[in-house]
Amino acid sequence: MSDALAGHTPVLLAEVVELLAVQPGDVVVDATLGLAGHAAVLGAAAGPTGTLIGLDVDSENLSIARERLTDCPADVRLVHANFGELADVLSAENIDGVDVLLADLGVASTQLDQPERGFSYREDGPLDMRMDTRLKKTAADIINSLRERELADLFYYNAQEMKSRRIARRICECRKAHRINTTARLVEIIGEALHVNPNSRKSKIHPATKTFQALRMAVNGEVPALTALLKTAPDLLKPGGRIGVIAFHSVEDKPVKLDFRQRKNERVYTILTKKPVTASEEERATNRRSRSAKLRVAVRLGNED
Ligand SMILES: C[S@@+](CC[C@H](N)C(=O)[O-])C[C@H]1O[C@@H](n2cnc3c(N)ncnc32)[C@H](O)[C@@H]1O
Repeated sequence: MSDALAGHTPVLLAEVVELLAVQPGDVVVDATLGLAGHAAVLGAAAGPTGTLIGLDVDSENLSIARERLTDCPADVRLVHANFGELADVLSAENIDGVDVLLADLGVASTQLDQPERGFSYREDGPLDMRMDTRLKKTAADIINSLRERELADLFYYNAQEMKSRRIARRICECRKAHRINTTARLVEIIGEALHVNPNSRKSKIHPATKTFQALRMAVNGEVPALTALLKTAPDLLKPGGRIGVIAFHSVEDKPVKLDFRQRKNERVYTILTKKPVTASEEERATNRRSRSAKLRVAVRLGNED
């Protein structure tokens, strides 16, 4: 097992397994393969007659997942692609219906743990944040080019940062002197804007948390990708097929909730999770990331349902 795999625990695994109920022979899509924690278990349930399609925008994670899935009994096909393009990926793979579709949104531990990728506010690194290194714009490009108002809106709408205007103003003041190129410099500027010491351990939530989340979402086009996935999912799922989405904050969870609700009213989906499923006390104690996870699952209805 590589170092990246050691200690990696997929969130809400038991709940995902139970609610997505993969059957032998199923076509399973893991839209956010990551380190294949969920995919290994779902692929095993699909068995030798099943198919596992795994997508990730991060080529490093895709390689780790490939290694981890060598023993998977299903027909495994891994694709370096954005789940916003899932329909095209499936058509290229000649898949005309999906039984189970999972998206476990957000960043992977491998991305956060490498300061040189620029996702972490705890360690210094280049202000990059691209999950897919084929993308052209980095977080530094956004921070140094958007107008003050645009930056404030981005922090507010992507992460509900209530102090977005103060942060945006200070960024624009500081970048006049020098381009902002590193995570440590951005953290320092956020600290100045909020009049706090970002390295103090006093507050539970780091003052840069929301700004970093908002930037990461912008760099990787996370909202448009999720919107595209939700829009196309009913056309990709077979009747009886299931979709599960794990979200980590309200900006991700709300569109899932609203989409499922609207499809339910249109008799396209039935919802299996009236309230989102959250992690047990036990999981919350051992896996920090699980504390904010919310899983919603819906089933695609057929014409006769
Ligand atoms: C939270 S991790 C998934 C962890 C995975 N469920 C596991 O058990 O190992 C999210 C992964 O999704 C990828 N990702 C994020 N947005 C994506 C998108 N729009 N399309 C494809 N992959 C995406 C990230 O690169 C990351 O590897």
